[in-house]
Amino acid sequence: MTKEIYNLVRLRSSFLYISTLLLLRVHSHSEYLIGLGSYDITGPAADVNMMGYADMEQVASGIHFRLRARTFIVSDPQGKRVVFVNIDACMASQIVTLKVIERLKARYGDLYTEKNVAISGIHTHAGPGGYLQYVVYIVTSLGFVRQSFDALVDGIENSIILAHENLRPGSIFLNSGELLDAGVNRSPSAYLNNPSKERSKHKYDTDKEMTLLKFVDDQWGPVGSFNWFATHGTSMSRTNSLISGDNKGAAARLMEDWFEQHNTAEREELEIPRRVSSIIGNHQDIHEEELMLELASYFESQLGRPATRVSSSARRVRSAMRKADKPGFVSAFCQTNCGDVSPNVLGAFCLDTGLPCDFNHSTCGGRNELCYGRGPGYTKI
Ligand SMILES: *[C@@H]1O[C@H](CO)[C@@H](O)[C@H](O)[C@H]1NC(C)=O
Repeated sequence: MTKEIYNLVRLRSSFLYISTLLLLRVHSHSEYLIGLGSYDITGPAADVNMMGYADMEQVASGIHFRLRARTFIVSDPQGKRVVFVNIDACMASQIVTLKVIERLKARYGDLYTEKNVAISGIHTHAGPGGYLQYVVYIVTSLGFVRQSFDALVDGIENSIILAHENLRPGSIFLNSGELLDAGVNRSPSAYLNNPSKERSKHKYDTDKEMTLLKFVDDQWGPVGSFNWFATHGTSMSRTNSLISGDNKGAAARLMEDWFEQHNTAEREELEIPRRVSSIIGNHQDIHEEELMLELASYFESQLGRPATRVSSSARRVRSAMRKADKPGFVSAFCQTNCGDVSPNVLGAFCLDTGLPCDFNHSTCGGRNELCYGRGPGYTKI
């Protein structure tokens, strides 16, 4: 098990590449309302079968690191909205989505419906199972697991609520590039069965493209990024029994920590308690009337709702005053066409002999049970 954790920690080289993607500003740039949110969805950490390997013996017995639902909401200048939720789960679930939409309808009316809410799983094979309604997916968990289901529905709903409440003007940047060392074809021998004419059309035997969206708040700067890349969530093998977001969940956490570390100077400055008088001193260009309006907006209206109708420059003052409330950077590593892609880039080896598995059949001495993939952090124990 320890070796798998090393695998995750040593995702760093890919991760540095991704940081580079983040720094590049290319393509589209226009004004949107953008909100990001993140909420825990860990679920039951003991005695629940894990979703992914469909192995009855793989039962959760603790936590490697907690799982999250990360959401972005974008509203375009015409007011059209889209919600995208990336969950640290093996896959999304129709019954979870239906329940989430039902909750959103009760809370926001027709703002968020099945037409503009997308929920996507990272394909970790180390999360609790039992949250899907179709029999084939809940055989190894011996049926539906209410605790798994509730943790997902509650966490996704809360993540969307946070994103909704964080909606503010900002820009979106799009970039893409090749990430070469984070995935290999999981059956190169099967790939070779494709006609050579077909194979000659492609540079590699898997899709190497990563696409990244970067969200930049008009006042706060970068507030998050979501990227899509095809590689299986199987850095943690089926011998693992700790709940984990696998490579994508780990990458998301490394990215969020990296961002916080590189912005601590700014944060410390922001955490200095502010008084109204010093803010007036800092913003002499703001019209006095707007400032009064702004100050007035700090008092809740009688219905218990904050007064929000303020002019745009007053809004800027307000956001400057509230900078200390800036939410944490939200970084999601989302899954895409990973069907044939393994993160175990060193290849597959036999547990007993240490030799490579049979190339054409992925077996060791004719049996597949002992053949395991190895990733970049593999250490012989
Ligand atoms: C794999 O199968 C192909 C096609 O049957 C064969 O030509 C090749 O020698 C096999 N490779 C190995 C390493 O067994």
